[in-house]
Amino acid sequence: MSALTATALAHPNIAFIKYWGNRDQSIHLPQNGSLSMCLDGLYTTTTVRFDPQLTADSLVLDGSPVQGAGLVRVQQFLDHVRRLAEKDIYAQIESSNNFPAGAGIASSASAFAALALASTSALDLQLSEPDLSRLARLGSGSACRSIPGGFVEWQAGETDLDSYAFSLFPPDHWELLDLIVILDRAHKATGSAAGMALAHTSPLQKQRVTEAPMRLDFCRQALLERDFTSFAAVVELDSNWMHAVMQTSAPPLKYLLPATEDILDSVLGWRAEGHSVCATVDAGPNVHILCLPQEEAFLRQELSQLPEVLELITATPGGGARLLSVTA
Ligand code: DP6
Repeated sequence: MSALTATALAHPNIAFIKYWGNRDQSIHLPQNGSLSMCLDGLYTTTTVRFDPQLTADSLVLDGSPVQGAGLVRVQQFLDHVRRLAEKDIYAQIESSNNFPAGAGIASSASAFAALALASTSALDLQLSEPDLSRLARLGSGSACRSIPGGFVEWQAGETDLDSYAFSLFPPDHWELLDLIVILDRAHKATGSAAGMALAHTSPLQKQRVTEAPMRLDFCRQALLERDFTSFAAVVELDSNWMHAVMQTSAPPLKYLLPATEDILDSVLGWRAEGHSVCATVDAGPNVHILCLPQEEAFLRQELSQLPEVLELITATPGGGARLLSVTA
């Protein structure tokens, strides 16, 4: 058998309704459904080459070889793919991001979405979109939401079989912008897997999870109607719930910096003045300001005056994971 190579591209996504806590950590069966937007302008490109001559899997990320836990996570993921294809061959993986890893932009989402598509295509496994989303989920929960395009919902599901993501609306449904305010480029001290493993220790997690379906319904409806006021209210409520759980976990987790809090306060003030802006924060200090396109110039003007702001990145609703090439 000759070497089989495929290259795929996937966008990261920003969650409007968050995933934080698993029923089964080993296969990322979430405690609640979540909802996100794929981020065009940001992407991971991954080439996978399976070759019978190789004696181990290897990974090169942004030009540097990866060893240790990062490599093990990818090897374990490839084991799922090998099992599905019933093939016992190793792979060389080369992956690159056009955005800073560990910058509060979930790079594991685009990474495992691109890897799922490239690795299955290289082995000529033709998976349906739900099956590809389920597979990506095994690598990283949020990766299942980077398989379909546009505005995406991950249904929590009962088992591995029905826990996958699907597109609610295509990218052109609503011209929302995500202005990502980078305040810190360092890798976060507690990654999301370790952080969400503590969610059950928070006295607030149960209620956050119980009320998540209500917030999902509300957010889906706001998106359908392109109702920014309702959208802003539910997105901020959901982000606050997640950070309240983080801060009341044992030990407590605090991802927000003083500058994060300042920007969140400013966003509230701007909205009170009539601007169509709201904010959400993942497991890191950087702020995702979601807004209508006419607000971008104003926001850039305001934010560029703050010394804590290292970089501003604009993303628009993006498509799903896509295959760039396959060669035998
Ligand atoms: C805060 O998907 O990165 O971004 O499944 O352990 O890889 P693992 O976690 P991950 O968690 C994402 C958490 C979040 C919220 C979200 O994107 O829904």
